[in-house]
Amino acid sequence: MTEFPKATLRVGFVGSGFIAHFHLKSMLGVRNVEVTGVYSRSAENRQRFVDQVAELGLGTCTGHDSLESMLRADDMDAIWILSPNYTRLDIMRTIHAEVKAGRSKVFAVACEKPLARTVREAREMLSLATDAGLNHGYLENQVFSTPVLRGKEIIWRRAASTTGRPYLARAAEEHSGPHEPWFWQGDKQGGGVLSDMMCHSVEVARHLLTAPGAPRSSLTVKAVNGTVANLKWTRPHYADQLRARFGAEVDYRNRPSEDFARGTITLEDEDGNELVIEATTSWAYVGAGLRIQLELLGPEYAMEFNSLSTGLKVFMSREVKGSEGEDLVEKQNAEQGLMPVLEDEAGVYGYTDENRHMVECFRKGETPLETFEDGLGVVEMLMGLYRSAETGETVRFPAPELEDYVPVVARRGA
Ligand SMILES: NC(=O)c1ccc[n+]([C@@H]2O[C@H](COP(=O)([O-])OP(=O)(O)OC[C@H]3O[C@@H](n4cnc5c(N)ncnc54)[C@H](OP(=O)(O)O)[C@@H]3O)[C@@H](O)[C@H]2O)c1
Repeated sequence: MTEFPKATLRVGFVGSGFIAHFHLKSMLGVRNVEVTGVYSRSAENRQRFVDQVAELGLGTCTGHDSLESMLRADDMDAIWILSPNYTRLDIMRTIHAEVKAGRSKVFAVACEKPLARTVREAREMLSLATDAGLNHGYLENQVFSTPVLRGKEIIWRRAASTTGRPYLARAAEEHSGPHEPWFWQGDKQGGGVLSDMMCHSVEVARHLLTAPGAPRSSLTVKAVNGTVANLKWTRPHYADQLRARFGAEVDYRNRPSEDFARGTITLEDEDGNELVIEATTSWAYVGAGLRIQLELLGPEYAMEFNSLSTGLKVFMSREVKGSEGEDLVEKQNAEQGLMPVLEDEAGVYGYTDENRHMVECFRKGETPLETFEDGLGVVEMLMGLYRSAETGETVRFPAPELEDYVPVVARRGA
């Protein structure tokens, strides 16, 4: 039996890619944690990750060449699943099998967004975690982003308490397109930009509309209406660019996923008040870099945040020449002119507070703010939006037909 609280949570990462390194850096701002393992299929990636853990002073990390080896290690309490969407279920099935058979002492698991590609997969993720007796956390960083933490706290404490609850949340996330080929392949990723990025927008909006301390079930989804479009990457020049960059498997002349999505979600609170989420996402936005826009509106107040309206900006003339990078802002598109800089990306995007929260909950045996159940709820909304976009009709909840629904672009041979 695991005794809580544990003094230190010993974490193992599955995946050593883009998001794994973001999480690792953010762990610098988290107490009572050590990163004691990484499972990667590549010896080179494992070593790079192990070296970085040592450099950051985050513990003694062992590189594992199999997931089973990491799960069976004596120094492993919790797993962070940070690998591509199509690998989730197999990883979770292995964790479940090892824990159930008593070969692993892991007692908690956290999983990156989206929890799964379909409702059926998400439901299995949840049931595997609960059947194995694991504490579980859904890694939706925007819920923990510093402007959301601060903005939500002020709005609800000062404004909503005196003039009434907020009724409209707007959330947008846009950038110029993902960095690895699997994101662009509908079957592997689960869809296009709607599943990749609207998972953030619907959940952060739902969180902003939820009263502090109230369960997510205090809001009920009534109906969803979605639109998807191909704005940029199906244009022949850009489809060819994708193919040249990522190979023949990313074929946007013949098998594109949507690069724009819009969603309206109608909800109801416990008093029968109508609430609305408006979400917009795209892979067709070319600005300085990733742009997150959030708004929360109520009867006598409004909150807004734009991640590119940074306090810190730098200007570099055309004489400043150098290599391309993402050193100023995520998904950066330029190295000259007036550029916004996020001084603390891990904090503003939410990774630091997210990991602090998950580590503390797992260490103490408490239920996190975001669990696999919330991840499942997000996938239900996303599948409703996809179905609405496919049929041209609003989808009313509860919608049992979503149980086996697969978005058009994720169907094999589509
Ligand atoms: N919260 C956010 O804003 C955010 C941002 C980006 C990504 N994400 C999410 O994080 C996840 C990973 O995205 P990423 O951008 O880090 O992708 P990535 O750069 O492609 O990295 C994925 C990693 O997973 C590992 N991997 C690949 N196939 C695997 C398999 N079959 N079994 C085990 N590991 C495997 C790879 O490691 P090896 O090749 O070394 O084995 C690679 O390091 C995705 O679910 C994505 O949606 C979230």
